[in-house]
Amino acid sequence: MNQIIITSDGSHTIFVPGLNEHYHSIHGAVQESSMVYIENGLGFCKTNPLNIFEVGFGTGLNALLTATSMYAEKRIIYYTSIEKDPLSINVINTLNHWRFAGNKGKKVFDFIRNAEWGEFEELSNTFFLRKIKGDMIKDNIEGKFDLVFFDAFGPDKQPEIWSKEVFEKISEITNAGGIFVTYSAKGEVRRLLRKNGFVVTLLPGPPGKREMIRATKQ
Ligand SMILES: C[S@@+](CC[C@H](N)C(=O)[O-])C[C@H]1O[C@@H](n2cnc3c(N)ncnc32)[C@H](O)[C@@H]1O
Repeated sequence: MNQIIITSDGSHTIFVPGLNEHYHSIHGAVQESSMVYIENGLGFCKTNPLNIFEVGFGTGLNALLTATSMYAEKRIIYYTSIEKDPLSINVINTLNHWRFAGNKGKKVFDFIRNAEWGEFEELSNTFFLRKIKGDMIKDNIEGKFDLVFFDAFGPDKQPEIWSKEVFEKISEITNAGGIFVTYSAKGEVRRLLRKNGFVVTLLPGPPGKREMIRATKQ
């Protein structure tokens, strides 16, 4: 059974015993999300309006940090996230992520956890969330995106989602000039991105990871 644990920055993550894998870095869940997806993804990609696609909605932490960090900026964001095995609402309700997300954290957390699956729901006139219950490996993804958050379980734990077919799909749905970010820096992931039209940059990773990938679609 999944277990909620506290990571080094005080924020929660979930441990999946069957995979021997965590949802986030044990060196700091919020710290990792903030650096990989918010600073190096959202902060780098200036498109407005911005269409984001996330692989692995999980706890909704990346959506939470995206929405709260954008309040001041007034950028228009359409955030689509796919999740194969949604966490139970009882687990989500226990998470403390909103405490790390500023004074709008609780309001946004409540919106995200209560949002229905399948359609865009409006938080404000600048942030729209669509949670899709689906399988990134099997399903067709509709739409085109400017920024991709690839937040699947690690390539060693879930190699089938870091596959040629999935990266072809990612390439098809990413606009030219669009940005892809992930916490992994694995050589095979870089190779798949290059093969599918991305220019890959290695950046310093969050605590516990030497490097991470940011890639730009040509
Ligand atoms: C590393 S966790 C995601 C962390 C998440 N972004 C968060 O902030 O909590 C990986 C997520 O990918 C989901 N997942 C695994 N295989 C998937 C698939 N084939 N399609 C969509 N989601 C998948 C898992 O259920 C899990 O929630």
